[in-house]
Amino acid sequence: MGAPKQAQVRAERLRQELEHHNRRYYVLDDPEIDDADYDRLFRELVQLEQEHEELRRADSPTQRVGAPPLPEFAEVRHRAPMLSLANAFEEDEVRAFDKRVRDALGVKNVEYAADPKFDGLAITLSYRKGVFVQGATRGDGATGEDVTPNLRTVRAIPLRLPQAPDTDDLEVRGEVIFYKADFDKLNARQRAAEDKVFANPRNAAAGSLRLLDSAITARRPLRFFAHGVGIAPRVSWKTHSELLDRLNALGFPVSRERSVAQGVDGLMDFYRNIQTKREKLPYAIDGVVYKVNRLDWQEKLGFVSRAPRFAIAHKYPAEEQTTQVLRIEVQVGRTGVLTPVARLKPVEVGGVTVTNATLHNEDELRRKDVWAGDTVIVRRAGDVIPEVVGVQQKGPRGDEERFSMPDKCPVCQSPVVRLPGEAATRCTGGLYCRAQRKQAILHFVGRRAMDIEGVGEKLVEQLVDRDMVESPADLYRLDKESLAGLERMAEKSAQNVIDSIQRSRSMDLARFVFALGIPGVGEEVARILARHFGSLRALLGADWPALAAQKEALRKENVKRKRKSEAPVEVLLEGIGPEIMESLDKFVHETHNSKVIASLVDPVRGVAVRDAAMATATAAGKIFVLTGTLPGLSRDEARALIEEQGHKVTGSVSESTDYVVAGAEAGSKLAQARELGITVVDENGLMQLLGKR
Ligand code: IVH
Repeated sequence: MGAPKQAQVRAERLRQELEHHNRRYYVLDDPEIDDADYDRLFRELVQLEQEHEELRRADSPTQRVGAPPLPEFAEVRHRAPMLSLANAFEEDEVRAFDKRVRDALGVKNVEYAADPKFDGLAITLSYRKGVFVQGATRGDGATGEDVTPNLRTVRAIPLRLPQAPDTDDLEVRGEVIFYKADFDKLNARQRAAEDKVFANPRNAAAGSLRLLDSAITARRPLRFFAHGVGIAPRVSWKTHSELLDRLNALGFPVSRERSVAQGVDGLMDFYRNIQTKREKLPYAIDGVVYKVNRLDWQEKLGFVSRAPRFAIAHKYPAEEQTTQVLRIEVQVGRTGVLTPVARLKPVEVGGVTVTNATLHNEDELRRKDVWAGDTVIVRRAGDVIPEVVGVQQKGPRGDEERFSMPDKCPVCQSPVVRLPGEAATRCTGGLYCRAQRKQAILHFVGRRAMDIEGVGEKLVEQLVDRDMVESPADLYRLDKESLAGLERMAEKSAQNVIDSIQRSRSMDLARFVFALGIPGVGEEVARILARHFGSLRALLGADWPALAAQKEALRKENVKRKRKSEAPVEVLLEGIGPEIMESLDKFVHETHNSKVIASLVDPVRGVAVRDAAMATATAAGKIFVLTGTLPGLSRDEARALIEEQGHKVTGSVSESTDYVVAGAEAGSKLAQARELGITVVDENGLMQLLGKR
């Protein structure tokens, strides 16, 4: 007995919609509905399938929740072996690869398909008549583990493909990975539950995919990217890039970064381009992969032992290394925070020699249980300070190796305090402490602050130790002669320093405020303050307790309005909470600070702070939603322009949305906006709103 026709039709429709939204989210990276709406559709389908057992199908999105635990994984013999790749680290090796390829083919120039090398777990997915039937890990390359129930829970993997000659018997190969942000969240959760923490996203992906209980895998937000095929009917495509386009069209996520490159120079451009983006990519990569683009040429080149001759991985320098902790010392930062730092046996990490790594604070040090003499994993990514990830091998652990936080500041001997609820231990010496003074000055001259070139750690050290500079204001009283008397300071460099100090004498308000180093006032907060007050005088004259009270009243008003479903009122200084307000109040009323500021803006010898354009109160802090493709701006560019002016961009349309910016092929968000009567603008309209046109 079948289910009523109506239920059948509805279930099918829901399945299609859910797969459509999966695709928008995972393949196109452009969701049309928010999680709550997705869940509603999902629950409706679950209920229908519960009411009518016969509607349940293996390829239904509801089957992504996991199956009963397995006693062990079955073995799968791969129909085509899952090979490895030869590695290149240097340009020479890439040139040699290209030459081998050209010689073997007897051609002058080769076109390559280039792709990031995802740092995850290699898997293969088998489809029969368009239906996902089995998925396996790589294992030893010939035999892997059948992890089908786990892979079914991965929403980026399509369970059903369009019926087509090439989906009749298709094997897709790719990588299961964890996004970096999801990885951080997972580890935070694991830590809170005192459960196992993963060393990196790769381990998290491998650990999550190889769980015998797929219901647990279902709760781990795994991702998938396709990078090739195993067995596949050779139909319409002639090149690797066409193949990836086809996989993408079938519903598989493929890297957005993929590209086609001409010859070695094209490959090197790709390598460098991805390297600059590496940090910002949502997933971890350990290199890029180059493949001869023409499939007939790939076939001609064939394989050597266990790797293809037509492909190579070009690796980036590893961001993690192991080395030994020589000792643990304490450093005093700008705001007096005492940071335990591991002095290391020098080691190359990511192309730079590292001799120090931060242990963040006492709690972190205890949690990671790092002692002098241990062999540790050190991590360095991009510009960030190297950190100790964890202990790889314990060393001896006697009293000699034990670390304890000092009770006096190692620099100025003032007592240290650790406030309840705070991870940080602080020196109470304030600007009396030379360490804090040095850091305050280094912050002031920093690139994102006053941008005074040529004033580095070594120079600040000497300036403070010789009492030539007590506060940032004293920088503007330096002359070439006294600078030239310092160590490692030739006349030419002294002149350069004077010149760059000179250049910083005209500065915009936001940067100046950031440069002051007020606790809690980062670049973003400094920008908000500049926009709100417009001038330094107005900012310094602010009545913070009154503003805090006013803000609190507006917040309460909005709680009330929300309950009554009324539009909220504009809250002033959005993004600045009570702690920052208190910090500002304390800072500007501190006698020492007001003296330093007065001296800094001295009309003759100081800095001229340029007033900021004040945001019109009505236009700031609006909520925007982007949908569709804009003709002249990418999503990220549009978002940046909007956020730059203190507005917010959110993912879904609701009552609180102020503007929907719609481009070509705008989807359901546009319809929702019309339904709710929200103002819809195009790119031109957006630019006008932002005062750019
Ligand atoms: S192509 C013959 N492309 O790297 C193998 N592999 O070292 C051809 N990998 O286990 C693989 N990202 O799973 C290719 N964009 C990418 C890749 C990639 C990661 C993995 C792959 C394989 C390993 C080979």
